[in-house]
Amino acid sequence: MERTLIIAKPDAVQRGLVGEIIRRFEARGLRIVGMKFMQVSQELAEQHYAVHRGKSFFEPLVKYITSSPVVVMALEGTNAVAAARMTIGATKPNEAAAGTIRGDFALEIGRNLVHGSDSVENGQAEVSLWFSEAELVSWPRNNDPWIFEG
Ligand code: RTP
Ligand code: MG
Repeated sequence: MERTLIIAKPDAVQRGLVGEIIRRFEARGLRIVGMKFMQVSQELAEQHYAVHRGKSFFEPLVKYITSSPVVVMALEGTNAVAAARMTIGATKPNEAAAGTIRGDFALEIGRNLVHGSDSVENGQAEVSLWFSEAELVSWPRNNDPWIFEG
């Protein structure tokens, strides 16, 4: 089953939006297989955003994600990566559709509340980067047949 890594970023935690954010992914039908509240280290932040190293926003981005605790989730489901990205909305909140997390709760790119993996490959890699095997739980959910047809 496809997996995606979701981070409720420091602004989501500080603004008390963690419950709202989790609620939207749960309601969408994605199955939680890992979740934790943590302070992100400089090292993990730099690894996670390695693809952006050298860009003008790299340092502020690392500062932002390490500035206060986050809630990180591994979610599973058919088309989990694309579905989660749609639920999150466009990177620039001013371009995010109403009804998305960013479109409903954010205004600026550097305070865009949520991270979601951007490809199936990165979903797998990011879940492995943020969670140990022991922190991930594979479980059958009672309502799975009402969400996953196959
Ligand atoms: P994310 O990785 O956090 O889910 O966001 P994303 O895929 O929608 O956007 P991405 O291009 O991966 O950028 C990662 C984060 O870097 C910040 N950013 N700032 N000032 C800028 O031009 C700029 N561009 C990106 C945002 O916080 C973005 O979420
Ligand atoms: Mg990204």
